[in-house]
Parts: sequence; structure tokens; C-alpha cells
Amino acid sequence: MSKPTYYITTPIYYPSNKLHIGHSYTTVAADAMARYKRLRGYDVMFLTGTDEHGQKIERRAQEEGITPQAFVDNIVDWIKDLWKTMDITYDKFIRTTDAEHKETVQKIFKTLYDKGDIYKSEYEGKYCTPCETFFTEHQLKDGKCPDCGRPVEAVKEESYFFKLSAYQDKLIKYIEDNPEFIQPQTRQNEMLNNFLRPGLADLCVSRTSFKWGVPVEFDPGHVVYVWIDALSNYISALGYLSDQDEAFKKYWPADVHLVGKEIVRFHTIIWPALLMALELPLPKQVFGHGWLVIDGGKMSKSVGNVVDPSILVDRYSSDAIRYFLLREIAFGQDGNFTNEALITRINSDLANDLGNLTSRTVAMIEKYFEGGTLPEVQEENEFDPDIKTLVKTQIQKAEDNIEKLFFNNALEDIWVIIRRLNKYIDETMPWILAKDEANKPKLAGVLYTLAEGLRIVSIMVEPFMPQTPEKIWAQIGLQRGELTAWDSIHTWGTLPKAATAKKGENMFPRIDKEKELEALELASAQTQPAQKETKPEDKEKPQQEKQEAEQLEYITIDDFAKVELKIGEVIECERVPKADKLLVSKIKIGEEVRQIVSGIAKYYTPEEFVGKKVVVVTNLKPVKLRGLLSEGMVLCAADDTGKLVAVGPLGEIVSGAEVR
Ligand code: MSP
Repeated sequence: MSKPTYYITTPIYYPSNKLHIGHSYTTVAADAMARYKRLRGYDVMFLTGTDEHGQKIERRAQEEGITPQAFVDNIVDWIKDLWKTMDITYDKFIRTTDAEHKETVQKIFKTLYDKGDIYKSEYEGKYCTPCETFFTEHQLKDGKCPDCGRPVEAVKEESYFFKLSAYQDKLIKYIEDNPEFIQPQTRQNEMLNNFLRPGLADLCVSRTSFKWGVPVEFDPGHVVYVWIDALSNYISALGYLSDQDEAFKKYWPADVHLVGKEIVRFHTIIWPALLMALELPLPKQVFGHGWLVIDGGKMSKSVGNVVDPSILVDRYSSDAIRYFLLREIAFGQDGNFTNEALITRINSDLANDLGNLTSRTVAMIEKYFEGGTLPEVQEENEFDPDIKTLVKTQIQKAEDNIEKLFFNNALEDIWVIIRRLNKYIDETMPWILAKDEANKPKLAGVLYTLAEGLRIVSIMVEPFMPQTPEKIWAQIGLQRGELTAWDSIHTWGTLPKAATAKKGENMFPRIDKEKELEALELASAQTQPAQKETKPEDKEKPQQEKQEAEQLEYITIDDFAKVELKIGEVIECERVPKADKLLVSKIKIGEEVRQIVSGIAKYYTPEEFVGKKVVVVTNLKPVKLRGLLSEGMVLCAADDTGKLVAVGPLGEIVSGAEVR
């Protein structure tokens, strides 16, 4: 009987040799799911790749005096190496510069044109020649370029358009009829209420102002622009419209497109409309995950706060980083990244919980039983039934959560078992049992329960931490095979009674937090200049996409009214110990005094900051930063180098005054 199939994708990445830990989140999550499905017997297709066309790439290659192809080739190798160090097991890596992909894009374009879903018209906008950038009327500042302030020209460019508007009603109906299609639920409401119901405009899908794209075969001055080029990777990778389309027949529709929240709209409106136009089934699900943020803000090269995943993998292992990413961030929501949180997790969950359970179990079997082998004669004890019931329940919960892509919950489910087993050691006190020869069968029973529990846990962590299981198996006498198969965890007692144990390497040594935090800051400071030399990723995005993304962020006056802004006066301020970037201030806002932590220590001394009047977001949910409560946020302007300047009133005004 043929295996069931499972097709999972990540977005294709813009070529950048500085993908940061946030980028690796999508890929690590997809990899965990792909591994899980393989362990459950599925025939998996896990697709990732690179989105290599566009004006910015063309320009950067020109600056470096190389062809765009040579430019992207170098970067793609770097990205593949990064995925290797993070143990990403993709089945196919697609590049939008692959000949097969380009051919499929051309065929798709022609099919849609022949059907009347693509038509030729004119793209109208304002153009800033020095910045080589298009803007919409709305984006201009006093009618001038919002970036450099110079005058702009009205331009018209001949373009092909896709009739997105024609699919509006069909899309609304599809989304309403298929509540599983967009996950989490909140993103579904966002798409319906903010984009679909207000109405869709047709979409510009070709450009003539640059060459680095897929040429429109029947109109050579045009190149296919971002949407049809990038989104169709999910089917071109499977051979759609080619002679070799077995994979397409086998895997399409995708089970899940995993994407960051900012590109949910492209995947749940534009992509489904294109598929409808091609008369193809839609992916079963689009899951929009949240961002990994730093101090509440987006990780980005332009802010200079990116965290390099390879530095972290080198220092702590890929398994530890994968664990952290999937455990710390509630899937679907944003999660904060700090070095401190990372080290705390490694020490508590990996070194203490899992590491100790392994080393204590193995050490006791070796110590109390000849040759490190348990005897066949074993007795149950009063805690065993509870352990068995708990293990069964937790397995069920973890499996359910993984299926829903709620990895943080699944890991918590597994850690409930680990922590219970550690408690079991304290309850049964093997060292006391070992004192009396008559208790040997009971002692053997206790150690067997621990070893069997450890076996089950080691199998369950495999999708998330692929290197750890074999390290544990080597210590409890197992090799990959039937006894380590996922299905075996459903049968308690699979480990042979005469289990053997042999001490192995310390998988997760405890980290000295203070020392390590310093070392990490140093390591990341050394890489920052290199990061700043490369252009911000946003700038690499093709211009119109940037515009689309910006349009995406329009808010209404009612949305704006939700943010409470007030004038505050800094009355006290000091540095946060052991945090180079942070100042903690007492800010008077009318009658009230709030404590607020801000990442501005590089730009203001506490003495300079005291007495300043600043704009404070006063209804922001309080957070703890480095253990200090922060009840609001001081608004700052940031330039491209990451420099920050606090924003304040231009005239005399009392603290507590509302900013509107
Ligand atoms: N090329 C487009 C996708 C086209 S798909 C047809 C793109 N590329 S990207 O390189 O900018 O982003 C790739 C993935 O990384 C996206 O899922 C994005 O959400 C994710 N992340 C980038 N920064 C992130 C964080 N700070 N946190 C979590 N994920 C983030 O978009």
C-alpha cells in the first residue's frame, strides 16, 4: 500500500547572506513538522528555496560589478550551508532562477493571458529618480519623495494586470466555507475584514523598468514581477505544466504553506486567486506564524539588532537553538528573543530537566547493577501506574498539538513527562533501595521505569531536536530501529527488561549565564559591522512589493485612536546592570509616575536623559525586560544605522498632555 503524502512548504527566501534567527524560525518549524510526518510514515515533500529576482538584486549585482546570476549563486550556497548547520531536511530546494521554474512561470502567464485573466494596461505612480523608487500619491510627503524630500515625477509604465478583483466573492466564500484554510483564526478575520470585504484591486504582474525577472515570452520588454514568479514556486517545484509532473500529481494540493504573518495576505488572497484562475485546488492550509522580536521590535538589519543563528548554533548546538525557537514562541504569536531567555531555557529545560534525567538514570543503572545491565526480575512500585497513565495522556496531547503546529505546547507536553520522571527519582529514592540487597528487584523496577520513560521521551523529541535521540539511545543500549520507532511509544514496556546503560557525553552542559551573556554580546558586536554593510532586507524587496506591503499597513483613524500617546517627563534614569543597551527611567505622566525600560543607552547617558520631555505610549501592555517592569514605551526615531533619537514636543507643554 502506498504511503499517505504530506506536502509542506516555507516561503522562498530573499537572497541575503545575513538571514537571522527570525528567518530560521519558519524553516525550523517546517522541518520539525516534516520530520514528524516522516516518523509517522508519511511520504513527505518539504520544499524551501530562494526568491531571486527583482530590481534590487539587479542593482546590487551591478554595484559589485558581477552578473545578477553570479550574485545570487554565492548567496544561495551560503543559505544552503546555514540550513545544513540547522539540520534542515528539505526534500527540494527551489530557486526562482531555475530553468524549469522560469518555464513554468511563462506557461502560467500565457495560460492566464489566453483566458483573459491577465490584461495589458498602465501602471501609474510617482517616481523619485535619485532614489529610483515608485511611490503612490498617498505615500508622498508634502507631494515630495518621502525618503529624500526631492520632487517626484508622475510616471506611467505599461504593465500586465491580473484580474484579482474578479475573484473577490469566490475567495470570501471559500474562506467562509473552509475555516481551516487560514490559521490561526485571527488571521482569517484580518483577511476577510481588512482586505477582502472592502474590495480587491487588480494586480500589476509585469514590469518593464528592470530586466532581472522572468521574461514574458510573447512581449519581451516585460518581466514577470514578484507575484506570479515567487508564488508559483510551490507548484513549479513539483513539475506543474512540465513533462515531468508526477510530483505535482502526487503532492498537490499542499497540506500546509507555513509563512510569516506579514505575507499571509499574499498567500491567502493573491495565491488562491491565481490557483482559482488556473482551475487548481487550493492548499489545504496557510499557517501564519508570528515574528521573533527583540525588545518588542522587529529584528532587522536596518535596526542593527539581528541575531546570527550560526553563532548560536556554534556555541550551543543546533538542537538547543531549534528547541528554544519552538519552545519559547507560542506558535502564531510574536515571541521575544533575548540571549538571557535562551540561556535560561538551555540551563533549565535541557541541562537540568532532560540532561539530568538521562545522566542520573544511566549513572544509577551502572552503579547499582553489575555490568550496567538490569536484571529480568523487577518489581513495580506504587508510583508506576501513575507514570504509565501520565505518559499515555501526554503522548496523546503532544501528538494532537504537533498536528495543529502548536509546537510550544507539544514540547511542554513532553517536558511534563520529563519533569515527572525526575520527581519519580526523588519519590522512589533509589539510593536508599540500593542499601538493602532484598530491595534489588524493586530498585530494578524503578530504574527500568526511568529508562523506559527516557526511551519514550527521546523518541518524542526527535522532530524538534534530531541529534539528541541517538545520544540518549547510545546510553541506554539502543540503536535506531523498531525500538526507537515513533509507533513504539504507544506501548509501554518496549525496552527489553535487561536494559543496559553506559555513560555518554554530557549533552547539554550548564552554562555560566553572566559570563556567557558577555561573550555573546562581544560575538554579536563583532559581526554587526558586516551586517550593516549589507543593505537592509526591506530594501532588497522589489519596489512595488514594498509599496504593496506599505499599503497593507494602512490604518484607520479608529485604529490610531487605540494607541494612547502622552507627554512624559523623565525624572530619574539609570543604566540597567549588565545590559549595555538599556536605560531604566522613572517618567512622570501627569500625576502618575511610570517605570519604563528603553534600549537607548548607546545614545543617551542617564544624566542627559533626565529632564527630557518625551512621547510615551501609555497603553502598551507592561513587559519585564531584564527582570524590570516596563510600563510603556518611549518613542524614538531610528535611522538606517540603528541610531536612536527620542521624540519630544517642539513647544512648551505639561507632562500628561495627550499626543493626538
Ligand atoms: N520572498 C518572500 C516570500 C515569498 S513566498 C512566495 C519573503 N522572504 S523573506 O526572506 O523576507 O522571509 C522569509 C521568511 O522569514 C518569512 O516567512 C518571514 O515571515 C520570515 N521572517 C523574517 N523575519 C522574521 C522574524 N523576525 N521572525 C519570524 N519570522 C520572520 O518574505
